[in-house]
Amino acid sequence: MSIKVIGTGSALPKKQVTNQDLEKLVETSDEWIRERTGISSRYISTGETLASLTADACERALENAGRRAEDIELLLVATCSPEREIPCVACQVQSAIGADCAAAYDLNAACSGFLFALNTAYAYVEAGIYQNALVAGGEVLSKIVDWTDRGTCILFGDGAGAVVVEKCEQGGVLGFVQHSDGARGDVLRCDSRALKNPYVDRPMETEFVLMDGRQVFAFAVRQVPAVIQEVLDQTGIKVEDVDLFVLHQANQRIIEGIAKKLKADLDRFPVNLDRVGNMSSAAIPVLLDELNRQGRLKPGMKLVLSGFGAGLTYGACVIEW
Ligand code: COA
Repeated sequence: MSIKVIGTGSALPKKQVTNQDLEKLVETSDEWIRERTGISSRYISTGETLASLTADACERALENAGRRAEDIELLLVATCSPEREIPCVACQVQSAIGADCAAAYDLNAACSGFLFALNTAYAYVEAGIYQNALVAGGEVLSKIVDWTDRGTCILFGDGAGAVVVEKCEQGGVLGFVQHSDGARGDVLRCDSRALKNPYVDRPMETEFVLMDGRQVFAFAVRQVPAVIQEVLDQTGIKVEDVDLFVLHQANQRIIEGIAKKLKADLDRFPVNLDRVGNMSSAAIPVLLDELNRQGRLKPGMKLVLSGFGAGLTYGACVIEW
């Protein structure tokens, strides 16, 4: 028994911000950003909220799947940039779309979040607890990025993506692996609260994303090929049998490094980061939705999904579409 993706959806804010726009904010250039990252533009919320973007993505996924919100049993939202701590985004989305019967909660594994949420849905279905799930990844990273820090503000974008999954007897998710390395968590972090109560009052170091870019880069290029190989070994599938590698969209050079290590042609690694930047947990489901709507995902195709990011977290799964 497994789960099959039966519908996809996504939503991006209206405002597109180009590299040229960022040249007016920080000391950078379109050329530097494109050469080092592959990114040309990203979408930034100017009013859209995490809940509104994620609800739009979920409604589109339900429509694409031909399913009703009220029939969904589990609603998971992966995010690391919630505007509200409580209630969770998943409950806000549940209310907005009318998924009244679903158990709804959030999951934070940063850029691996969507993949970990998908694996969680798989485990529930495999255990016989639920028959279906709506799994989303959404971010408004623009709200936790320091817009004066050229090392990070050029990388990130806002958006949301979602998939509807259902129990299936054949195909679907063939296997997954997920890992966490909390000991190295400080290389990419964001502190959102100062320690403040009647007994202590300590200022926060920063409330924005802090990143050691080189360390994160090295981690991704080392661990992602290894985790992909691990899931391929587990499922008995060879690199050459994979039709598409749908990877977290962080940096074009990271994707090229991973493809090189796997000895796989780059044309099997679809990208949209040039247009949307790094959307953390929204990256994989938004890319999946774009591929789906372009008609590039055919029944029987083998896909590898792989996420990696803050935590540090990383993982991969194999899907027979
Ligand atoms: N524009 C122009 N110059 C910039 C710049 C920008 N936006 N950001 C940094 N620089 C400068 C640095 O100050 C440095 O200058 P110096 O040599 O005078 O000190 C120089 O460019 C090189 O900086 P460095 O940080 O070594 O560049 P890099 O080649 O490692 O590229 C990243 C920086 C962030 C693009 C790259 O490290 C990266 O993509 N890392 C992974 C980040 C990531 O994907 N995070 C999310 C993971 S989910």
